[in-house]
Amino acid sequence: APRLPKVLQLTLAVIKPDAVAHPVMLEALHKIILGNNFVVVKRKDLAWRRQDSERFYAEHSGRFFYQRLVEFMSSGPMRAYVLAREDAIRHWRELMGPTKVFRARYTSPATIRARFGLTDTRNTTHGSDSVESAQREIRFFFPDFCAEEWLEKEEPSFR
Ligand code: PPS
Repeated sequence: APRLPKVLQLTLAVIKPDAVAHPVMLEALHKIILGNNFVVVKRKDLAWRRQDSERFYAEHSGRFFYQRLVEFMSSGPMRAYVLAREDAIRHWRELMGPTKVFRARYTSPATIRARFGLTDTRNTTHGSDSVESAQREIRFFFPDFCAEEWLEKEEPSFR
């Protein structure tokens, strides 16, 4: 069967405050990104106010962990990346492993959350879970970045 052309995709990856606070972990995560064929399209160190965190996680506002999550994500500096590669969304989520750290440790011990995660809240990283959320989240973190323009310009050089 003919091979389908691979499609370059963008995703948003975030290194959360627990991991940024630990220089060894931050370095390890950066190396994992570079070692897995992601192109770093954009990168930014930032910190959220509580209201940024509330807005980003609005879809979870009814959940029992919402306050905890909002507080944690506005507790210190983070690092955000726009990453590009073929099937970027799925690849980054596979590298992260399951949200729940105890599950990650049992089912996929080599993943980021299994290795570095402390709890379901302090779980080191975030990754967009769909094309739609990647678009929204990239806009949220990088309002001046135009994904369509970047893909149009850069796609051909990945083929
Ligand atoms: S779920 O349970 O499938 O809806 O969880 P998920 O959509 O993967 O992620 C929810 C985000 O909330 C953070 N968080 C928790 N999730 C589940 N349980 C607990 N106790 C919890 N505490 C915090 C979790 O890390 C997800 O954050 P992001 O930034 O999206 O990874």
